[in-house]
Amino acid sequence: MWPGTTRTGRSRSGARLTGGPGDTVADAPTGAPVAPGRVPLAGHAPWIHRDALRFVRELRRHGPVTRIYIGPRQVHTVNSPEIVRELLTVQARAFDKGAMFDALREPLGDGLITAAGDRHLHHRRLMQPAFHHERIAGYARIMSERSLARAAVWEPGTTLDLVPEIHRLTLDILLRTLFADPQDPELRTAVRDWLSVKYHAMRLALSPLHAWAERLPLPVGWRPPQPGPLRRLVAVQHRIVETYRADGRDRGDLLSMLLATGGPDGSLTDAEVTDELITLFLAGTGTVSASLAWALYEISRRPDVQRRIHDELDTVLAGRPPGIEDLPALVHTRRVLTEVLRLHPPSWLLMRRAVRPVTLGGVSLSPGAEVFFSPYALHHDPQLYENPDDFEPERWSHADAAKSSRHTYLPFGAGSRLCIGEDFAWTELMLALVAFTAHRRLTPAGSTPVRALVGTVLRPDRLPLTAHARPS
Ligand code: HEM
Repeated sequence: MWPGTTRTGRSRSGARLTGGPGDTVADAPTGAPVAPGRVPLAGHAPWIHRDALRFVRELRRHGPVTRIYIGPRQVHTVNSPEIVRELLTVQARAFDKGAMFDALREPLGDGLITAAGDRHLHHRRLMQPAFHHERIAGYARIMSERSLARAAVWEPGTTLDLVPEIHRLTLDILLRTLFADPQDPELRTAVRDWLSVKYHAMRLALSPLHAWAERLPLPVGWRPPQPGPLRRLVAVQHRIVETYRADGRDRGDLLSMLLATGGPDGSLTDAEVTDELITLFLAGTGTVSASLAWALYEISRRPDVQRRIHDELDTVLAGRPPGIEDLPALVHTRRVLTEVLRLHPPSWLLMRRAVRPVTLGGVSLSPGAEVFFSPYALHHDPQLYENPDDFEPERWSHADAAKSSRHTYLPFGAGSRLCIGEDFAWTELMLALVAFTAHRRLTPAGSTPVRALVGTVLRPDRLPLTAHARPS
């Protein structure tokens, strides 16, 4: 419950709870109750700003579908796993991704993440082969080598903030799996410049102020970023695409697969390929680094869990470097990561927008109605998970655990927009976790608590850990 509110949907100060500036058909009040705590002009934004994770967790107390206001914007939130499932599967065609993704299209291009309707289906079909298991086996060698190389520079007895280390690692892995020649200096500079703009653009798109962006003269820091870095990255990628097209060789990388699309479904144009490359940068770095950082955070605090990982690695690998063929045998390591993605899902908040009239959980939505749901809130619901705030990898040891969590465990989403990189991410996370733990024991360093940063992904602000040698 947020301070100053009651459970009846009216604030104690008597503030108006429905309607708002600039109401449209999509903003018109529906049958869903308004979550308590709405304040004039800002809506629920102050509560979200104060503690967004607590805010989304508590929404379920007010009903399976509720309404909140972000500034003037009305948003429906779905708080029950059954209705989330309906939104993502049965009713999926009635929704696109929504306003935040419209805002991202300009600075980030129109790839799979922002694409809607038939364009999305078409691109998804064409891109799927790039993520097939056999293809990922090729990327796994790069993932393992790069992770082992980065872990090797971490001398036992020293302390390191793992957040920037991991960030560099995941970017390096993605560059090497996307492009067979990732050392191209122009490409590296263009990616670096674009990444700084990307963070700015995403922060803006997610901010409550975004709802006001077109109505208010905002200071420079709140205006959309300059298009230069995106244009430069697109130009460099075009040059690389031309080289690939000229000889038609499969270089074993993701780009070769994107260019090899074709057949009855058509193929991706050069402009579409560059948009998809940018999408993969966007989707495949921050999410993986956050998950790996959370995994190392959790195991550094739990010697018992770490010991089990070490026992498993000693048995399965007996000191040799890991490969993709070893992953099925690393049962406990996989449970640890499954639990990490439950407790700290990087994509903590997902969104949709109705593209036609649709009824969801008994609530009639008009075209344009925005809908949010939170994998984090589902994963922390005490009715769905016992002791939801505890890190307990063993909860995944029961034979039917995966089946019974089909509706309640959504770190990679579900339905037609399920993360296309899920297998890629699992392979990378497993291999990187093995690389960082196999020859070391990790302990937390320093007394400042690690905080969760709530942005487009949920990630730790810092992760100082000390490495200790393990007897071989
Ligand atoms: C732990 C790592 C990851 C997590 C937690 C994650 C999570 C997600 C989630 C929740 C979605 C669905 C979004 C929605 O329904 O609105 C998604 C979509 C997507 N992800 Fe991931 N992701 C991860 C890694 C990756 C990687 C490594 C790649 C690519 C290399 C990737 C590429 C994509 C793409 C392209 C989409 C859009 C799919 C579509 O709309 O059809 N992701 N991801």
